[in-house]
Amino acid sequence: MFDRTDAHITTWVIAIILFIVAVALHKSGKEKAMTIVQMILRVFYLLIITTGVLLFSKWGSTDPALYGVKFLFGVVVIAMMEMVLIRTKLGKKTGVFWTILIIAFIVTFYLGARLPLGWNWFAS
Ligand code: HEM
Repeated sequence: MFDRTDAHITTWVIAIILFIVAVALHKSGKEKAMTIVQMILRVFYLLIITTGVLLFSKWGSTDPALYGVKFLFGVVVIAMMEMVLIRTKLGKKTGVFWTILIIAFIVTFYLGARLPLGWNWFAS
């Protein structure tokens, strides 16, 4: 958990799938099912943060600035998923939150893959 990123990757991949399922359930009018998926998704938010914090606690000091920004954007991704789902349920506009979600996801993904553990696609 401290040295490998597999658990962290698993949690955010499952969270994204659950998020898409929740949006799809809302579109097909299945509000009750959406609420259940949303509750499971919230457990995954905690798992993403837990696995992220475990990696961060061991490796964060090797590059505090980049790890710090990764942490921040990771939390923004989670916050925006929650905002989009809540506002979708309330029938409010979600455009801005979708935009922030997609940008924050791209930045988080880039930083994660750039940082030294696991995938190392953009390392300079
Ligand atoms: C949905 C939100 C998130 C996404 C999409 C995401 C994505 C990623 C990706 C793609 C990696 C690289 C995996 C690898 O190189 O094998 C990664 C690693 C990491 N993530 Fe996240 N993450 C998210 C949330 C978080 C949060 C909330 C934290 C902090 C609490 C965090 C902390 C970390 C740390 C410390 C690493 C290891 C970086 C390294 O040294 O390579 N992540 N994440």
